[in-house]
Amino acid sequence: MSEFPVHPVPASFSDAHIDKARYQAMYQRSIAEPDAFWGEMAEEHLSWDALWHTVRAFDFSNGEAAWFSGGILNASVNCIDRHLPARADQTAFIWEGDDPNDSAHISYAQLKTEVCKLANALRSRGVKKGDRVCIYMPMVPEAAYAMLACARIGAIHSVVFGGFSPEALKDRILDSDCQTVITADEGVRGGKPIPLKANTDKALAACPGVHTCLVVKRTGGQIDWHSGRDQWYHELTGVAAGDCEPEPMDAEDPLFILYTSGSTGKPKGVLHTTGGYLLQATMTFKYTFDYRNNEVFWCTADVGWVTGHTYIVYGPLSNGATSLMFEGVPTYPDAGRCWEVVDKHQVATFYTAPTAIRALHAVGDEPVTRSSRASLRLLGSVGEPINPEAWEWYYRVVGDSRCPIVDTWWQTETGGQMITPLPGATDLKPGSATLPFFGVELALLNEDGSEIEGPGAGYLVIKSSWPSQIRTVYGDHQRLIDTYFSHYDGYYFTGDGATRDEDGYYWITGRVDDVLNVSGHRMGTAEVESALVLHDDIAEAAVVGYPHDIKGQGIYAYVTPMAGVTPSDSLRDELVQLCVAEIGPIAKPDVIQWAPGLPKTRSGKIMRRILRKIAENELENLGDTSTLADPGVVQDLIDNRSS
Ligand code: WT7
Repeated sequence: MSEFPVHPVPASFSDAHIDKARYQAMYQRSIAEPDAFWGEMAEEHLSWDALWHTVRAFDFSNGEAAWFSGGILNASVNCIDRHLPARADQTAFIWEGDDPNDSAHISYAQLKTEVCKLANALRSRGVKKGDRVCIYMPMVPEAAYAMLACARIGAIHSVVFGGFSPEALKDRILDSDCQTVITADEGVRGGKPIPLKANTDKALAACPGVHTCLVVKRTGGQIDWHSGRDQWYHELTGVAAGDCEPEPMDAEDPLFILYTSGSTGKPKGVLHTTGGYLLQATMTFKYTFDYRNNEVFWCTADVGWVTGHTYIVYGPLSNGATSLMFEGVPTYPDAGRCWEVVDKHQVATFYTAPTAIRALHAVGDEPVTRSSRASLRLLGSVGEPINPEAWEWYYRVVGDSRCPIVDTWWQTETGGQMITPLPGATDLKPGSATLPFFGVELALLNEDGSEIEGPGAGYLVIKSSWPSQIRTVYGDHQRLIDTYFSHYDGYYFTGDGATRDEDGYYWITGRVDDVLNVSGHRMGTAEVESALVLHDDIAEAAVVGYPHDIKGQGIYAYVTPMAGVTPSDSLRDELVQLCVAEIGPIAKPDVIQWAPGLPKTRSGKIMRRILRKIAENELENLGDTSTLADPGVVQDLIDNRSS
């Protein structure tokens, strides 16, 4: 499968939580006796006010799943209060600012007070159990306080990545009918301000249902103020009590909504519930990262993505860990920043995305090797396939050939890691996410839906429910069924392709649907196309991904101007700006090719397979073009290919 050698479990992990024998035994039991296994796990790893009546119930024909129903718990209590007897003074969050001279330590006791004050402030504005609260924040501790304060009072948070445009923010606020928004005056990244409040104002102009906008003062920059609606975070929390009775939540009460892109339509509001999600977050954090007391854990994701939810906030805190939250970017002030931070805060585990690894690799070894990194014990990768070359560099240079790398496959919809090595149990193969986590039953399917036995390649599907399974698409359960449970009866369809080797290891090959993965950010080709065709001069657009050295995938857009319109550089710029305005800077096309015609079948369907091949410059292998309405357009696209 790969030319690169296997890396056996190192001696330094011989005392890990899970060794080979234990993995085998626990995995087998999790499949053979799921009710007993998960019941024990839930009692061992979480604090409950009342135990459940049913461990699990699911029906893939209608996409329904329920875990620990009847069980009562509160996620903020599990992440904070239960640790106070032993860890009140231990650091819960280390915050590292964009400016290397800016950092802070927040203890579990301080976290409790901050979260309770905000929870009380939200209650004072009428927010109650089941209400949706939108969080549009930079990477500051208040973002985590906001999530946990919602959890404390049973409100459902919907975090929107701070890099999304006002238009994208507006869509998400309206879709889940949020009446409260928490934001900041400005964010700071790489020394530059990001106008979060101004973006929020633009979004809220179209959201009359929002009665409260809480504003964290991060920079003190100039902002507009809508009196009544807008409230300073520090003023409201400043007068609030530091104790707040937690809302008792059923395990199946919603915890959060998080929007993610699919192959069609607008982004979907993925809904996760309290008990099952928190259990998967807690267990995967403990076992995948082999977490030890008092270690510092650093996940570089933004809290706007699921990785930030599960591995900056819920997973680490539920385990009483110290979680590092970084406001900045890996290349500011220079490409050595990450390793400087590792040394400064004595980070034991560093968890990032392949795109960051490739970008840092491209700069060379010196920014890495001038740091010590002696505190590092383990490295992690998430978000897209990691190419073996990047894996080897990460292993050899960043980890000094000492630290195992856990390549973790999962999705917004799975809530937590699903395929991952456990560092004390799994021999590593560079480029493979290796083996399923406890309770995860995988299969590879052929096109016709038959299961592949043994080694082979196919569609990656999941055969039975797991605790942190997506429960619904907010407001549209039919869309959940159509997207995940209708492709193949009785299976959850991941949208990914994979191969399985002779050792049962999984190698994710990437999306098999019209979803792009650009620098680990997920985007529907349809979303970018919709933005492009908003332009009056554009008749049609088709977007595909193509291999990109740093981003993993780049965005290649074929654009057909209206009759009589002459393509120009200024039109190109306007199209790029339209994508930024509709979605955000992450949606900027890398290539725009003017296409007088697009390859279509006689029924009018665009043949993306051909467009992908042209974008990839695989011109010898275009496949069958005989069903095209006008085969001539293909040659024209090839002749005018942008390189
Ligand atoms: C898609 C999910 C997982 C949280 C961050 C992304 C791709 C994710 C891996 C990996 C290969 C991966 C898949 C998946 N992906 N992790 N280790 N190896 N591909 O969450 O935005 O919901 O995206 O990311 O294609 O379907 P997401």
